[in-house]
Amino acid sequence: MSKVTVVGAGNVGATCANVLAVNEVASEVCLIDIKEGLAEGKAMDIMQTAQLMGFDTVVTGVTNDYSKTANSDVVVITSGLPRKPGMTREELIGVNAGIVKSVAKSILEYSPNAILIVVSNPMDTMAYLALHSLGLPKNRVIGMGGALDSSRFKYFLSQKLGCNQNEVEGFVIGGHGDTTMIPMARFATYKGIPVSELLSKEELDEVVKSTMVGGATLTGLLGTSAWMAPGAAASSVVESIIKDQKKMIPCSVALEGEYGYNDITIGVPVILGKNGIEKIVELPLNEEEKALFAASEAAVAKTTAVLKEMNVL
Ligand code: 2OP
Repeated sequence: MSKVTVVGAGNVGATCANVLAVNEVASEVCLIDIKEGLAEGKAMDIMQTAQLMGFDTVVTGVTNDYSKTANSDVVVITSGLPRKPGMTREELIGVNAGIVKSVAKSILEYSPNAILIVVSNPMDTMAYLALHSLGLPKNRVIGMGGALDSSRFKYFLSQKLGCNQNEVEGFVIGGHGDTTMIPMARFATYKGIPVSELLSKEELDEVVKSTMVGGATLTGLLGTSAWMAPGAAASSVVESIIKDQKKMIPCSVALEGEYGYNDITIGVPVILGKNGIEKIVELPLNEEEKALFAASEAAVAKTTAVLKEMNVL
């Protein structure tokens, strides 16, 4: 028996609940939202696909009653405003910080041991907020941005290579921002072959650029933030934890000396299992990558510093 709560029944939250159910990641998924009837409606809609899709997960929806989220093993926080076209993720901090903090507090009242997956933007800073405002151990707060950015990187690589996405490996570290994420081209492979042997420098640069603005491109096309890949990426993070898969997934986590940084929550590869973050993987970065990571860390730290000014920590 395992229970996952998804807070926020908007596009990302509902998609995440749907993927969790279709993939039978947990036996129970509770969807909660502040808007009367929204979570109940989305949950019922998902449940009416159970025989069509062949899953046994039970999805329930509830309006604002956190007692129904009790004893969740993992909680995905998607609450807050999404981006509008032309907006950066960082601009959402003012509205989303208060929401994320109060949601995390309510969740912990009923699920004191839950592992929190933070999706709300600016994601690295919201993960920092959840961790520090509630005094949680660092293995239990995980920002999901790197999982999403890595899936976009693999998509753009496969488009450029003209190959099957499932045969491409690659990941993205750094902040979950248009200018802060670092697609790790040097480590990307197609069937074990470094992509640098298959694509020109210009082609690889294009892939990196498309990945970095991947979210903004979709926001421009859709008029709001994307939700399919964000919801599925959050589900993949939950799955590695619930099923103790020990997968290596880049996520936003608190660094305590790793990569030479402290007091920051930023994307690096981690091993995810039943305890949440089981290990932070330290990559052998070259000088160029270290410089990119330093710039990314500085930018994320600047956004995170706003939390101190806001007095929400
Ligand atoms: C994205 O990149 C919403 O941050 C999310 O699509």
